[in-house]
Amino acid sequence: MARARSIYRCGECGATEPKWTGRCTGCEAWNSLVEEVIAGPSPSAEAIGPTAAIPLPIADVDTAAWAPVATRVGELDRVLQGGLVPGSVTVLGGEPGIGKSTLLLQALAGLAKSGRRCLYVTAEESAQQVRLRAERLGALPPNLWLVSDTALPHVLAHIASVEPDVVAIDSIQTAFEPALSSAPGSVAQVRECAHRLVRVSKDRAMASVLVGHVTKDGALAGPRVLEHLVDTVLSFEGERHHALRLLRAVKHRYGSTDELGLFEMTDSGLSGVPDPSALFLADRRPGTAGSVVAPILDGHRPLLVEVQALVATSAIPTPRRSAQGLDGGRLALVLAVLQQHVGLPFHEHDVHTVVAGGVKTIEPGADLALALALASSRAGVAVPDDLVACGEVGLGGELRQVHQTARRLAEAARLGFRRAVVPFSAPLSLPGIEVLRVATLEQAVRLVCVDDLERRRAS
Ligand code: TYD
Ligand code: MG
Repeated sequence: MARARSIYRCGECGATEPKWTGRCTGCEAWNSLVEEVIAGPSPSAEAIGPTAAIPLPIADVDTAAWAPVATRVGELDRVLQGGLVPGSVTVLGGEPGIGKSTLLLQALAGLAKSGRRCLYVTAEESAQQVRLRAERLGALPPNLWLVSDTALPHVLAHIASVEPDVVAIDSIQTAFEPALSSAPGSVAQVRECAHRLVRVSKDRAMASVLVGHVTKDGALAGPRVLEHLVDTVLSFEGERHHALRLLRAVKHRYGSTDELGLFEMTDSGLSGVPDPSALFLADRRPGTAGSVVAPILDGHRPLLVEVQALVATSAIPTPRRSAQGLDGGRLALVLAVLQQHVGLPFHEHDVHTVVAGGVKTIEPGADLALALALASSRAGVAVPDDLVACGEVGLGGELRQVHQTARRLAEAARLGFRRAVVPFSAPLSLPGIEVLRVATLEQAVRLVCVDDLERRRAS
């Protein structure tokens, strides 16, 4: 078979070169050339035959065949808002070792158990390895087919022979099109393979899931390159050293991207976490200075997390500042406001802050809890156990309301918290929880830390 020819096209100006060069001769952009297979002249309408597509009034277009199919992995179905849509293409992105293959296998097993024919193409591991894992997960239904292959033409042939309802390619970076000379995992290969799979999926009304690795900085060819080609991009995240895994939709053509899925990695695979707030607070030690619970919002989902601070006298001229799971910029801001508007300087103290349990939050709603944790640790006074704090700290020392305060506080009330420190503009009263409204950070610190200290001194 004659090898298809390829050219190199500049991503900036569209100029083509017969060979790869570091700099485009057209626009002089560096490193912008990407390999492409040369397609023959585009066939005429007669040559491709009559079209099966018929234009219809929009209201008459039939959607019944395109209803999502549940994967029976509850948290995944929550993020996908029902399940996988036939004919759709989904990218499941995440760092290596986070649990993508495990999630995929569990999802395919669920689909196979409900009668869908599924094909798992493993381009990274051997079929034996995947079978062993599937055994451990109890995922050996008869409708789940498995093949270990990497070349795209072979993969397409397997799809044609198995005729699956759902196909999974693990991973798109190891699959390759032999017509391109670029290495597997390069932008050209990933794009070409994904493009072909998208076409096959739409033609066969087959749902496809492509696994894509991302590195810490998200730079590797993969999910980013594919985002505009596919229907859904899922991001699977978590700290490798913690069991918690978070699943989010970055792009979703069949629903909103606001749902958050939570899993725990166990010995028998991933299991959904129905009550994440209880999990996050399970190891909390009441009565410890420097610990404040914040009701944060991730997408639509309210979560209660413990913000911890440890303030210690520093032995070095430039004291340490560390923020794990929090934004370093917000920590600096809160420290500056505490110094200028509350009169609590930290220039002689090392400051360590974390969100317990491996959770990450960058939302300003956690500012108040962070500020109170810092003040509490510095004063050596524990914040009352039944109290949560929620609000954004402004540069003038004022507190600002964050969206959906009522939902956040409802979650706090559900978990047994009885008091909430919130900005003055927050709702006046809410069922099950006493709302303590304060206008400034200074008032909040007085209310929670200093008053307790004075009460203790007085008694
Ligand atoms: P894996 O799904 O292979 O990750 P990825 O495909 O994203 O690279 O799983 C990664 C880790 O999960 C692996 O180090 C072992 C762990 N694991 C469990 O703890 N329990 C299990 O049941 C399985 C299958 C994996
Ligand atoms: Mg894997």
